[in-house]
Amino acid sequence: MQIVLIGYMGSGKSTVAKHLSAALSYEKIDLDSVIEDSEGKPITDIFSESGEIYFRKREGLLLREVIKTKNNIVLATGGGTPCYGNLMEFLKSQTDVITVYLNASAALLTKRLMAEKDARPIISHLKSEVQLNEFVRKHLFERAFYYNQAQLRLSTDALSEEEVVAKIVASLY
Ligand code: S3P
Repeated sequence: MQIVLIGYMGSGKSTVAKHLSAALSYEKIDLDSVIEDSEGKPITDIFSESGEIYFRKREGLLLREVIKTKNNIVLATGGGTPCYGNLMEFLKSQTDVITVYLNASAALLTKRLMAEKDARPIISHLKSEVQLNEFVRKHLFERAFYYNQAQLRLSTDALSEEEVVAKIVASLY
């Protein structure tokens, strides 16, 4: 089984991947880290030196490679991963893949992302919380088309990390 976590930046994909992989004794893979390792530099530098289109190409290639070569994994994707290069269709076509959308509200995402926006090139230019919230609401609306195609969709605002993990585990059996 290959559990692929999708959702907006700040939705908790990496943290949930850590706990879920431990609960299932699966390998945890973070796609952003796979990209950083393959390029030998942080995401922010890839964006600033080579641009977003280059990043999306690497992201698509490496996602396909991970899915083709690894099993028994929990994969945390980047927030944009399923929204480019037909990758949501690709994920849905893979028999061992279960896609899980961690659906957090724009209000909660804004709060979380305000503190960490500098490490995220997509939002690092936004100055105030009001600007960030406006951006997140619009962007989330556009991306929801892809996210909502996940096999399992969880609204996570009212759930603890443990509850999110427990719900995913329960849905698998
Ligand atoms: C992105 C999200 C980031 C990272 C890159 C682009 C996006 O991942 O892949 O900065 O387009 O939403 P996280 O969702 O892990 O922050």
